[in-house]
Amino acid sequence: MAIPQSFIEQLRMSCDIEDVISSYVPLKRAGRNKTCLCPFHSEKSPSLVVYEDTQSFYCFGCGAGGDVITFIRRIENLDYVEAVKLLAARAGLTVPEDGESSRASHLKQRVLELNREAARFFHACLKSPAGKAGMDYFLGRGLTPKTITAYGLGYAPDSWDSLRKHLLQKGFRDEEMFAAAVVAKGRSGSYYDQFRGRVMFPIIDLRGNVIAFGGRVLGDGKPKYLNSADTPVFKKSRNLFSLNFAKNETGGRLILAEGYMDVIAIWQAGFHNVVATLGTALTAEQARLISQYAKEVIIAYDSDGPGQAATQRAVGLFEEVGVAAKVLGITGAKDPDEYIKKFGATRFKMLLDGADSVTDFELSKLRREADLDTETGKVEYLKKTVQFLSDLHNPLEREVYAGKIAEEIGVSRETVLTQAKALAAKKKRAQDKREWREIETNRAAYRDRINPQRAKFLKEAKAEEGILAFLYKNPDSLEYILNRLGENGFVTDFNAKVFRIFAGKIQNNITLDLTAVAGDFSNEEMGRIAGIIASAEDSGNAKKQLDDYIDVLIQHKNRVDSETVAQLTPQEIYQRIRQNKQKDS
Ligand code: UTP
Ligand code: MN
Repeated sequence: MAIPQSFIEQLRMSCDIEDVISSYVPLKRAGRNKTCLCPFHSEKSPSLVVYEDTQSFYCFGCGAGGDVITFIRRIENLDYVEAVKLLAARAGLTVPEDGESSRASHLKQRVLELNREAARFFHACLKSPAGKAGMDYFLGRGLTPKTITAYGLGYAPDSWDSLRKHLLQKGFRDEEMFAAAVVAKGRSGSYYDQFRGRVMFPIIDLRGNVIAFGGRVLGDGKPKYLNSADTPVFKKSRNLFSLNFAKNETGGRLILAEGYMDVIAIWQAGFHNVVATLGTALTAEQARLISQYAKEVIIAYDSDGPGQAATQRAVGLFEEVGVAAKVLGITGAKDPDEYIKKFGATRFKMLLDGADSVTDFELSKLRREADLDTETGKVEYLKKTVQFLSDLHNPLEREVYAGKIAEEIGVSRETVLTQAKALAAKKKRAQDKREWREIETNRAAYRDRINPQRAKFLKEAKAEEGILAFLYKNPDSLEYILNRLGENGFVTDFNAKVFRIFAGKIQNNITLDLTAVAGDFSNEEMGRIAGIIASAEDSGNAKKQLDDYIDVLIQHKNRVDSETVAQLTPQEIYQRIRQNKQKDS
């Protein structure tokens, strides 16, 4: 392994998993352990558990899990070595370097340099005669030369190899271009430019690196926007367009738009605190990222159906991360870009300042639809508003609005409030049930990818997992297990690998914990291992169970019918084994 085990042990001592996780998400005590809302998927009630004693975490919702290094890999989107470096820096330690780790960071460095060179190339093309079509397009959409320069916009010529040739000439290799996803590979194995005949939007991270590109067709071709695939330096679900500009100018408030052109139009109109997602719906990770820079977000999505549906989803995600969301009610234009063009920056500012709180936005919609002059109209209105109030999580807010509604229809506030509370309680129960069902399905689906043999040998796999959990907590039992089971007693390949690696650590006198093995497994595999250990938390008579598990595997090995053998004592099983051996020889 790239980094000496002794250093990893030192690192583990200096980085308590609770400290590290709680610097990203607030932890709550739950009995012996702590829990929090899982930052790796979207949820309303906590299903991530942090285990102090094993220094591990496991999410019963999405299956994410592992040690402190795995947590950092996932949340910061880093590879193993980078995560170790980040933790080391946090603890004031220096990582001893070696060849392999520097190769991986070397590739990243090359990809970043290559991206920068590609962005320069696209930008120069845009300004050259060859880029006239692109320049005409941008100017036609009302962008000023200043804006074009600020965003480093560009043009990818309509050719199969102009970028590739340029980069080859600058000393970059095809493999590096492929890793950066600026070229694609044809069936014959030859490389060609990914972006052709498109205006280009470079995507820049918080450190000013060019990490990816979006490219728009000039006409009506498909796809309208082409975005870079994920690469070693880019993950679209984690980044936001223009956050590099917005981060220093938020004043606590960010505008979230739907697309590249909206962001740029809003920026050009003088509002620099604007970002957009990169060709996907808002993710939980992006909502969390926004929460690091702003307390309030104004959602400025398209006024069409899909835009409004996306607004609803975004509102939910912001609520989970504690960001106050407001909704921009755009009328008379399809999106902010068009609105600014039609009505100007001043009107847009008024729109921003008057942006409804989500609650006002929803309630005024209900009021417009209601007929408060008739009794049935009032009852209908009460029903709908109670439904709405039951979704508000802040009790104070619920009371204030209950008061307003009560006044509008002439009933007491208590009436409205009681009904809303009862409905909220009912919904909470339904929600809990749904989340649990989801958890169960996720776990089932998740398992299969990591250990594809598990479904086929379910009983054996469960026994293996029991043995692994026991061994993890009782490393001294290795000799006993090996004596009974031999080297190759495991049935499923994944669990066998885990056993082999656990055994290797123990035999080399390395303290067996998840951090000791984090370098040997992927994030997903670590999640599984953490899950195996977490589900075996409170097993009663563990030693007896261990024997049972070992029996299951021995039975399998000797192809004895498991139905009958389950009734036998261990002695009887040994007899069977001996008989089988005699038969074989
Ligand atoms: P829109 O279709 O609303 O585009 O998609 P837009 O931003 O208004 O662009 P113009 O004004 O027509 O040029 C919104 C966002 O969805 C993503 C892009 O990030 C886009 O900015 N998108 C859209 C894609 O990734 N691919 C597509 O094919 C279309
Ligand atoms: Mn749009």
